[in-house]
Amino acid sequence: MEAIILLGGPGAGKGTLAEDLKQQTAYIHVSTGDMLRAALKSGSPVGLEAKACMEAGELVPDSVILRIIEERIAKESAAARFMFDGFPRTIDQALGLDQLLKKYSGVIAHVFNLEVQRKVLLRRLTGRRVCKTCGAVYHMITRPPEKEGVCDSDGGELYQRADDSEATILNRLEVYEKQTAPLISYYQRQGLIRDIAAGGHADATTALVLDVLNA
Ligand code: AP5
Repeated sequence: MEAIILLGGPGAGKGTLAEDLKQQTAYIHVSTGDMLRAALKSGSPVGLEAKACMEAGELVPDSVILRIIEERIAKESAAARFMFDGFPRTIDQALGLDQLLKKYSGVIAHVFNLEVQRKVLLRRLTGRRVCKTCGAVYHMITRPPEKEGVCDSDGGELYQRADDSEATILNRLEVYEKQTAPLISYYQRQGLIRDIAAGGHADATTALVLDVLNA
């Protein structure tokens, strides 16, 4: 098993990059944010446990995250290649991932550190809209749908994520700095960090990442 990790603050473009990479590589996209939102929608026990944390922009407990990640990994073959989006998010999650990789004979190939200025993150998150039906992600200015409020792919209604209100975004940015940014030094010490200038067009970010993957 091989893994790459997409690391970056809220709105850095992890999900957008993952969608592009899915078209051009064999990596399986695993987004803990998407998994938790699906659990919330279905009313499962994991969703109920995660609800309050997600609404406040706080992190869901490490034990919950590591459980859903192991369940996901266990479904694939030993040759699978995973692209983790939004995981790990704490040092304890990174240690837990190291244990899982040992158990499933896996390695981390690269950790892509998406670097974006804070003011750009704020602009991206306040303008984000998501399709209620298929989850496609738009931006009111940089990636608008053809018809306002309607998904281009399936005509679904577009909505604003509950945690994309300005107050919650500010908390998510703070949580990122305190709990997730320390992972940069953690993976730097292992020689795995690949810094990616991700403040420009999404295609440019994807190209930089593909350069590393194809090197
Ligand atoms: P999660 O869904 O992972 O949220 P996040 O990390 O805050 O990241 P986002 O999904 O907000 O942003 P993104 O980087 O994917 O950006 P996107 O591509 O959408 O997590 C949500 C919550 O779940 C957390 O707060 C926590 O409670 C919980 N959680 C999840 N994982 C957890 C974990 N491991 N541990 C504990 N708790 C966890 O882009 C944003 C916008 O910008 C879009 O509108 C897009 O169109 C636009 N855009 C993207 N790229 C560009 C570009 N290059 N140029 C212009 N616009 C762009």
